[in-house]
Amino acid sequence: ASFDPATVVTSAVVADKWELPHSCLHFGSVLGHGAFGQVVLGLVLPSHLKVTEADQCQIQRIGRYAVVAVKMLQDETQGRNGREFLNEIDLMKKIGYHKNVLSILGCCTIHDPVCLVVEHAPLGDLLSYLQKKRRSLQSKRIESDEAVCARDELHANLLSFLRQVAVGMEFLSQKGYIHRDLAARNVLVCSPKLVKIGDFGLTRYVYDDKIYVNQRGGKLPLKWMSIEAIAKLTFSTASDVWSFGILLFEVVTLGSIPYPAIDNSELLQELSLGHRIAKPQNCSQALYDIMLLCWEQEPANRPNFSQLRHVLEQLLEQCS
Ligand code: ADE
Repeated sequence: ASFDPATVVTSAVVADKWELPHSCLHFGSVLGHGAFGQVVLGLVLPSHLKVTEADQCQIQRIGRYAVVAVKMLQDETQGRNGREFLNEIDLMKKIGYHKNVLSILGCCTIHDPVCLVVEHAPLGDLLSYLQKKRRSLQSKRIESDEAVCARDELHANLLSFLRQVAVGMEFLSQKGYIHRDLAARNVLVCSPKLVKIGDFGLTRYVYDDKIYVNQRGGKLPLKWMSIEAIAKLTFSTASDVWSFGILLFEVVTLGSIPYPAIDNSELLQELSLGHRIAKPQNCSQALYDIMLLCWEQEPANRPNFSQLRHVLEQLLEQCS
């Protein structure tokens, strides 16, 4: 049976093992703004969190407190945003643990404001991280030993980031999830060696034909979307692979905007005529070839995430 998640309304809110009282959360600075509200730094006593001891070891501490990120809904829970946010929370509960996928640590769904408590990534989102690295490299003298060293180390770490995103997406796609908004802004950096896929605001679980067609419109990340996603709102693992190709471009260029000269209104026509992003400066032919495969017009001709992980592993071996 096929099932359209757009029509699924979260059933009655139930307090399960993830439910936390608001009183155990202490809020700090704003980390970012999401589709439904904001993300703030939070402190919570580890005893409130239903995670294994092994997971707890990885959670940053300040004194007795665990450091977490809390996504909060701005409006009341009644509207469409509220339902979608509750769906996002439900989805994170079901996904299960993977080291390259941001984990849920708890939630407050019984009383407003609805909160989703997730792992805190100390180094922020990947896009800001890349742009900061670009500025820091620019401030060093180009051929100084320091600059060459910093660049080589960064290149190896970035290639490893790409492999980790492919591994996380392999896990999600094999479980039947389509992310629909894979982009550097939605990947979180936990350490210079560890990234996790975050923000499941647009993710859908599709267990039959693995294709999700959005019939309601809404704000869509056009420049990360495949031809068929823009033209027909057809999302699939293959359209996530297209977005992975754009993410590759963002990483290689240290956070450039894709197609800066093309207006959103012209994008579909340009792509249909075969236009693709040109090979960026300093991008190896091997990485550009991977991008081009991700941007094959025919979804079936694109690689899957296992194949992408495999080629990235080969490139990483060559680099060490
Ligand atoms: N910004 C948005 N979500 C975040 C998270 N989980 N950790 C750090 N910064 C964030």
